[in-house]
Parts: sequence; structure tokens; C-alpha cells
Amino acid sequence: MKFANFFSSLQEEPWYHHFLAPVLAELDEEGTLLDIGTGSGKLLQMVSSETNIHCTGIDSSKEMLEEARIKLGDYPAELLQVEPGARLPFEEQSFDFISICSVLFLLPRSAAEFLLKESLRLMRNGGKIIVLTPSGNRRFLSLLRHFLSFKNRGMTVWYTATRARGQQWSESRFLQGFASQHGLHYREEKVLKGFARLEVLQRATGSGAKDNTGAED
Ligand SMILES: C[S@@+](CC[C@H](N)C(=O)[O-])C[C@H]1O[C@@H](n2cnc3c(N)ncnc32)[C@H](O)[C@@H]1O
Repeated sequence: MKFANFFSSLQEEPWYHHFLAPVLAELDEEGTLLDIGTGSGKLLQMVSSETNIHCTGIDSSKEMLEEARIKLGDYPAELLQVEPGARLPFEEQSFDFISICSVLFLLPRSAAEFLLKESLRLMRNGGKIIVLTPSGNRRFLSLLRHFLSFKNRGMTVWYTATRARGQQWSESRFLQGFASQHGLHYREEKVLKGFARLEVLQRATGSGAKDNTGAED
């Protein structure tokens, strides 16, 4: 089985829906969304089925985008292959929302910073950059306690594969630093019972931002 195909099946497990749901909760009913590193397209499928947002997904992997096209069926989301490190092919301020889920923590810091700077260029005034990352800081037993089910069997693979880098990402406070460097408002929230972290960046002119640490148990 190809990795893209395996990943697409993983996204169909119930826990993955819970993992991505907090990103959806940050969106409005309408507007434009760019999902960077969209992979096999689960987030865009959820957004397309639950909102009127116009969705664009980009990824460097052709195989992942092929899986995304299958998952998205007739939904009119646009999918585009991009070259890592190349300027993203969109005009300034093209998007209300930019999501980056399970991507930045896997990249060298320079590549993560490049994608964040591109996101800033592409984000409209009043928009949001939403970053979702495995936290790597809960125990395996807690995972079993909260998610043990044959239907969630891929979660243990995900936990093992992402734990170390997720932890490094959490400890680096990289996004917080990027936000303060660029005068952005930053907030974070523990999600998926603390197994993941949602981080949101907005231009500091916006109001109503709140800190929410979420419940783990
Ligand atoms: C772990 S997957 C996450 C997929 C999806 N966002 C999700 O949360 O289910 C990471 C994805 O990021 C893509 N990726 C990595 N570096 C990238 C880059 N520089 N530009 C675009 N996509 C990239 C990979 O090809 C892969 O599909």
C-alpha cells in the first residue's frame, strides 16, 4: 500500500475527525481557505461539507493530491502541487483563512518560517493562520484510556511516529516567537484531549481573541 493511500485511510478513523474539528471551529461559514500541506484532503472535505467556504489545497506530493481528489469527490475544492521553498502561486491577501495541519513540525525551521511568511503575505486583513500539531506530551496509557477502539487503531501509529517531533515543536515555542517578531496576536489551545495543539495567529488589529487551554480529561 502506498503511503498516501495509507494516510488517506488513517484520516477516515473517528479520532482523526476529532483531531481536525478544532480547525473547522475557527472558520466562518463563508470566505476563502488555503490549506497548506493538505495531504489526502480530509480537512477540505470536512470544510466543504459543513460550510460555504471556497477551499484551495496545496501540497508538494502528487500522490497525496491524487488521494485528496478522490476524497473530495464532487466538492469544488481546488488542488495544486507546489515546489517546497518556491513562492506560493497566489496574489497578496487572497485568503481569509490559512490552515497548516501536521506540516510545520516536520520541516526544518527555515522551511517552516518560509511557509509562515508566505501565509502572512496571503492572509487578508482580519484573517487567521491556524496551525495544528501533535503535542507529543501525553502518555500512551492516556491515549488508550480516551481512544481505545478497533476503529481508532491507526492512532497508536500516529502517536508513535509524531511524538518526538511534536514535543520538540511544543518546547521550541516557535510560533509564539514568530508571532512576536511580526507583531501578531498569538493564542494556543490544547485539543484532542491534550494530544494536539492548536495555534492561531492574527494581525494584532483584530479584537476578541481569547486564551483557552482546553480540558484534557
Ligand atoms: C503529515 S501530512 C498532513 C496532511 C494534512 N494536512 C492532515 O493534517 O491530515 C504532511 C503533508 O505536508 C506536505 N508537505 C510537506 N512539506 C510541504 C511543503 N513545503 N509545501 C507543501 N506541502 C508540504 C506533505 O507532502 C504531506 O502531504
